[in-house]
Amino acid sequence: MLGVLTAGGDCPGLNAVIRAVTKTAIHDFGMEVIGFCDGYYGLVQDKTLLLHRDDVSGILTRGGTILGTSNRYNPFHWPVRRGGAVAHEDLSHKAVATYRRHKLDGLVCIGGEGTMACARDFINLGLRIVGVPKTIDNDITGTDQTFGFDTAVQTATEAIDKLHDTAQSHHRVMVVELMGRYAGWLALAAGVAGGGDVILLPEMPYDIRKVCAELETRARRGKRFSIVVVAEGARPCDGKMVVARTDENRPDKIRLGGIGQFVAQEIEATSGLETRVTVLGHLQRGGTPTSYDRVLSTRFGVKAAELAGHGKFGMMAALRGTEIVSVPIKSIAGKVRKVTPDHPLIAAARSVGTSFGD
Ligand code: F6P
Repeated sequence: MLGVLTAGGDCPGLNAVIRAVTKTAIHDFGMEVIGFCDGYYGLVQDKTLLLHRDDVSGILTRGGTILGTSNRYNPFHWPVRRGGAVAHEDLSHKAVATYRRHKLDGLVCIGGEGTMACARDFINLGLRIVGVPKTIDNDITGTDQTFGFDTAVQTATEAIDKLHDTAQSHHRVMVVELMGRYAGWLALAAGVAGGGDVILLPEMPYDIRKVCAELETRARRGKRFSIVVVAEGARPCDGKMVVARTDENRPDKIRLGGIGQFVAQEIEATSGLETRVTVLGHLQRGGTPTSYDRVLSTRFGVKAAELAGHGKFGMMAALRGTEIVSVPIKSIAGKVRKVTPDHPLIAAARSVGTSFGD
C-alpha cells in the first residue's frame, strides 16, 4: 500500500502529480494507493481516501488538489487551543500510528520546504518517504524547478500585461505585488516576461531614490508610464520586510504582504508620479497548470512512484537540466533556494534596461 498526501500551500499541478503517482503505482508496481486528506492533518487524524485509477482520471488539468491540503498542521508542532490561547504539542506518534495501521510500504509527500522538513523528521522516526517538490515560490533546493512555478509565472505575466495597458492609457506607475515568500524567483521571472521596468526582490534590498530616479528618467524619455514588480519579501535597504500579520501556525510566525502599497506611497511621495497598486495574491496559486507544469508534474509523479516501487526511500524527485533525478530529502530539507545577485536572469534583465533599485 502506497500513501500519498499534499501538504502546505496549494499550487497548480498537484492533481497531475497525484494522478501520475497513482497510475504508475497501480499499473507498473501493482500497488494499492491511499490518499491522506488535508496534508499531514489526515495522517495524524487518519482521514483517508482510497485512490483507484478512475478516481484520478480527468484531474490532470484541474488546479487545486483532490486530497485537500493545509499548512497549519505540523504533526511535530500541532496547534491546540488551551484556555483561549493556542499551544503546540508533538503528535507525530499519531501520524506514525496511522502509517503503521495502514501497513504502508511508503508515503509520497508532495509539498514545499516545510513539508520536506516534516518528511525528514518522519524519516528519522523510521518512515519510508518519497518527496515531490511543489511550490509557486520555486525555492526548494536540490531541484532546478518546482512544479506550479511556471503556471504562477504565466498568471502573473498575464496580469502585468493587462496592467501595462491601463498604465499606458493613464500615464501612471503601476506597482504589482507578487508572492514568493523569501525568494524572488516568481517576481524575477514574471517581471522579465512582462517587461517590468523595475523589479524588487527580497535578495536585493532596494533604494527608493534609485527606483524613483529610474521612473523619472523614463518619464523624461517620453515613457509616461512604468511597471514596478515587487516580490512580497522585498525590502528597502534601510528597512524591513512588510508583515501583513503574525501567524503562530507558520514556522516563521508571519504572513508577508503590504510591500506593494508601501512602495507605491514612497514613489508618489518622492517623485510625485501618480501610482496605483495591484496585489495579485492567491490568484497566483490557482488555475489549470500550464503544459510545462503538467509535463513536469507527471514526470515527478512517475518518478516518485518508481522510487517507492523500487524501495528507494528518503529521496525527493528533482529536475536537473532536462533529467528527472532524485536527491536525499535530508540534504535539502530546511534550506531555501534564493536568487543570487549574479544569476544570469538578473544580468539579462539589466541588459534590457530593468532596474532592481540597487
Ligand atoms: O509558499 C507559497 C505561498 O503562496 C507564498 O508565496 C506566500 O507567502 C504564502 O504561500 C501564502 O500563504 P497563505 O496561503 O497561508 O496565506
